[in-house]
Amino acid sequence: METDSVKRLAASFREHFGSHDKAVAVRSPGRVNLIGEHTDYNEGFVLPAAVDKAAHFIVTPGKRGECRIYAADLADHFSCSVGSIAKSEKSWPNYLLGIISELQKDGHTIPGCDVVFGGDVPIGAGMSSSAAVECGFAFALNELFHLGLSKLDLARLGQRAENRFVGVQCGIMDQFVNIFGKDQKVLKIDCRSLEYEYFPFERTDLNIVLCETESKRSLASSEYNIRRQQCEAGVAILRKHEPKIRTLRDVSEELLAVHRGEMDDIILRRCLYVVHENARVLAACQDLQRNDFRSFGRKMYLSHAGLRDDYQVSSPDLDFLVEAASSIEGVLGARMMGAGFGGCTINLVEHNRVAVFTEEIRERYRRRSGKPNNVYVTRIESGTALVPLD
Ligand code: GLA
Repeated sequence: METDSVKRLAASFREHFGSHDKAVAVRSPGRVNLIGEHTDYNEGFVLPAAVDKAAHFIVTPGKRGECRIYAADLADHFSCSVGSIAKSEKSWPNYLLGIISELQKDGHTIPGCDVVFGGDVPIGAGMSSSAAVECGFAFALNELFHLGLSKLDLARLGQRAENRFVGVQCGIMDQFVNIFGKDQKVLKIDCRSLEYEYFPFERTDLNIVLCETESKRSLASSEYNIRRQQCEAGVAILRKHEPKIRTLRDVSEELLAVHRGEMDDIILRRCLYVVHENARVLAACQDLQRNDFRSFGRKMYLSHAGLRDDYQVSSPDLDFLVEAASSIEGVLGARMMGAGFGGCTINLVEHNRVAVFTEEIRERYRRRSGKPNNVYVTRIESGTALVPLD
């Protein structure tokens, strides 16, 4: 499967740019997040994993001074001079241009490059196809031009490209797990210290199943940035009383209760959700250590309820899918995943129930919206790495 994607891209490279003798080829995965949503930019905890859907890149030094890109899945070209990188009106090139721009700001020289990329991370599904493109490209340039960047540098570079160039004020989760993900392991990240810990997820009796909604995530980036500001507004109020507070990571439920009267209801709900979700991630990691997936699954439902009612980033389709999943036998937990306003739900399903679950959820979704939705059974795989070209 993977070799097929690389072969297909290699053929496309030859067709568009000629020889790929000096190329590097990279696989860069999408991600799931088991629990810990909208906590990363509040310096809290997350529990993601890299998965078996990925973007692939073939990159060569190309012609001096030029950057030429072919997006194989879109059959679309983009080219520009590396000396004048600017935001493009088309959206997809910005995920790559942002990387070049940030590298240049850090004093690196990118002499030129020819790029073909494509993959099977669904776009807008909440599986972070954007981090897959940013980090995959950053990884490839680092290898190709021997830039000497560490894994952490690459993750931060991807995040900066998204923040400054694409314009979404995302946290570090997606880029971090894209780079640090490991086969059969979920990754607990402390988004303040960036310390991380792997937890084995080698269950043959359980699957992580994603159910897509067909809803567009048009609100996602504007509402995302608004949520960030609302969290900061909450922190600003609390900091007047406790100057040591830097982010919602430092806030307890008790402290919120004391000062709730000073906050507008919306701000209070946003803060409450984040404080609860951080506590849930820590407790969910204990569930993992005890192999208690029933308890883990219950926290996923609670996480969804918080995202729906307090953080208000869910959608009717996402709520429908979670509700439907909760009534199907063999489902331990379900919740919306990623930024929200569409995208997909993540479900923890007993392995021998997956086929029935898939059929049932697609049928219920079809009855609701007129067409069945995509359902993916995912496998946890390793983070971004070089892959052989032949
Ligand atoms: C997006 C962002 C992440 C994270 C999630 C929500 O995927 O890129 O940084 O904030 O939303 O948990």
